[in-house]
Amino acid sequence: MIEVDLVIKNAQELLTLSPSFKDESGLGIIRSGAVAVKGTKIFWVGKTEELGEKFILRRDGREIDAREKTVMPGLIDAHTHLVFAGSRENEFEQRIRGLSYLEIAERGGGILSTVEATRKASFDELFSLGKKRLDRMLSKGVTTLEAKSGYGLSLQDEVKILQVMKALQESHPIEIVPTFLGAHTIPREFRDARSRYIDLVIEEMIPRIAQERLAEFCDVFCEEKAFTLEESKRILDRGKRYGLKPKIHADQLSPGGGAELAAGIGAFSADHLEYISREGIKKMAEKGVPAVLLPGASFSLSMKKYPPAREMIEEGVAVCLATDLNPGSSMTESLPLMMTMGCTMFKMSPKEVIQGTTIHAARSMAREKEVGSLEAGKEADLLLLDIPNYRYLPYHFGVDHVEQVIKKGKVVFNKSLSH
Ligand code: NIG
Ligand code: FE
Repeated sequence: MIEVDLVIKNAQELLTLSPSFKDESGLGIIRSGAVAVKGTKIFWVGKTEELGEKFILRRDGREIDAREKTVMPGLIDAHTHLVFAGSRENEFEQRIRGLSYLEIAERGGGILSTVEATRKASFDELFSLGKKRLDRMLSKGVTTLEAKSGYGLSLQDEVKILQVMKALQESHPIEIVPTFLGAHTIPREFRDARSRYIDLVIEEMIPRIAQERLAEFCDVFCEEKAFTLEESKRILDRGKRYGLKPKIHADQLSPGGGAELAAGIGAFSADHLEYISREGIKKMAEKGVPAVLLPGASFSLSMKKYPPAREMIEEGVAVCLATDLNPGSSMTESLPLMMTMGCTMFKMSPKEVIQGTTIHAARSMAREKEVGSLEAGKEADLLLLDIPNYRYLPYHFGVDHVEQVIKKGKVVFNKSLSH
């Protein structure tokens, strides 16, 4: 008989997110569900009463009773700016008093002020800041995340940030998928020489970062005040030639055709999308490009305009939700809070916000074969939540429901031991 290392049983609701368990919720829920884990992988998923037919728990294996609890895949945060130094609470207050995000940037705040702080910070400082953020995210149930560079904007500083991510990845249970965002904004020293900065990104940064395998994706802030459509296309095409998969910050503050570009170049996701056009939605649906929506940024910037999530979903776009964790527009590590906002602000259903932070999010990061659902053969990334059903997750907000987090078969967070 085959031996397994971990069994979770009696889950009131086990959300598999797998198409093989069809049910009316659309989340593949198994009542009185169980999961068996062998090593780092899921070995079996099914009903508790079927346990023990094909395998047994190793003698020193672990058993978790999930009675009255909900079990689901680990959350996936598909868009973060994890590594930065400094903070911008002053801008938060200025915005409350009526200044806009762009006005603040024009007065010397914004991304460039974080670039200054991040350039000054040492590797160790950035590492310890990043670690604290990862610990917070883990306690909220995140087991995989995407992290963008983009607060260095010089070869040396972008490399430093990506190396910090690599070191964090090696020492923390959360899996970090690194993205190069050298095209976040034009740095101060290139203010009057933007094409030279773009050349630097294209000629030096992309080849070096690809060669050292420091990033898997390449992103561009495509926006009136950042990079034009043509510039974005040039940068993403170059990234592609060097094996970096394209992603794009598109149509956040103004309509700019970013979604159409994402569809045209086969991006893995287009993110933000407050001002996406109807045509953009259609093209993304046609090409199967997921949208990553960032309610924390809409909320924190008091944006009047929200991305048209319902229209996207109705057209067949896979809609993901992410924190956008960054010091300017979304200073939060809480993906569960984004799920609540996805429901109340963007009118997504509880089912949709769960898909958007698991299986769809995995796809936006090219990880859908490894994570995002509970299926035999996938990574054993699981959450044990102290809630009676899945709707509670977005409904009961602002508190932590996560009791245990399992990453690759190991318990890496246990609320009862964390105080
Ligand atoms: O995703 N849009 C560009 N970048 C960030 C904001 C960065 C900042 O303000 O520091 C975002 O919202
Ligand atoms: Fe962002």
